Amino acid sequence: MAVSRSHLVLMGPPGAGKGTQADLLAEHLRVPHISTGGMLRDEAQRGSELGKKAKRLMDRGELVPDEIMLGIVRDRIGAPDCARGYILDGFPRSIRQAEDLEKLNGEAGPLLALSLRVPAEVVIKRLSSRRTCRPCGAMYHLVSSPPKKPDVCDRCGGELYQRDDDREDVIHARLEVYRRETEPLLAYYGKRNALVEVDGTGSRDDVFQRLLEGLAGRGAA
Ligand code: AP5
Repeated sequence: MAVSRSHLVLMGPPGAGKGTQADLLAEHLRVPHISTGGMLRDEAQRGSELGKKAKRLMDRGELVPDEIMLGIVRDRIGAPDCARGYILDGFPRSIRQAEDLEKLNGEAGPLLALSLRVPAEVVIKRLSSRRTCRPCGAMYHLVSSPPKKPDVCDRCGGELYQRDDDREDVIHARLEVYRRETEPLLAYYGKRNALVEVDGTGSRDDVFQRLLEGLAGRGAA
């Protein structure tokens, strides 16, 4: 069966540029960008019980349990704006999540996974200089894409902050969890002939071009 043209999973280690590229792809393909990390951070900001539990795990670089994540994703991809497709950023992160997503996706057919390859030393540099806008989630990098005014979002004027899980010790823990739990998904999607791997180093625009070429190679852009 051919892979779906608009049901995409964006994979890669922490700081690979999933969020950055998912934004660009969402605009290009006109489908929603769904960031499970972003949804959990929103819950944490609201102070819900789920948000508090998730924050404790996220701050240690650990994964939030599969059952919680599946409930969140089931509700989100069932929303009307996902009828034409979606770009999942940060989900699935385990074989169980991938198997359940396949079931949830049902008739839309197999998803296509896009994986960004970025060495650990590059992601550590990227994450330690990342700043995120609290109100709108826009992302900056103090060296490669700094805001015009320090600590102020160009898009909405909101406050920029550093994520609690972007401390170097937590970045190492997240990388370890990625290798153990998420990297096996490359073989999972590879076996299904549903994987496109691209070099995630270089400029934001270069990486985006490579992703578009990868999609075109699968007849999907
Ligand atoms: P999540 O928010 O998904 O974090 P992550 O996977 O660790 O990825 P990041 O958001 O850190 O990085 P990214 O790859 O999106 O890179 P970005 O574009 O920001 O998850 C956080 C936590 O939530 C998890 O640890 C877990 O606890 C929990 N969670 C989430 N989903 C879960 C799930 N499914 N199951 C269980 N738990 C879950 O870029 C990074 C920086 O680099 C930015 O500053 C950016 O401006 C810069 N940059 C991007 N591209 C480039 C480039 N080409 N050149 C230079 N700089 C660049």
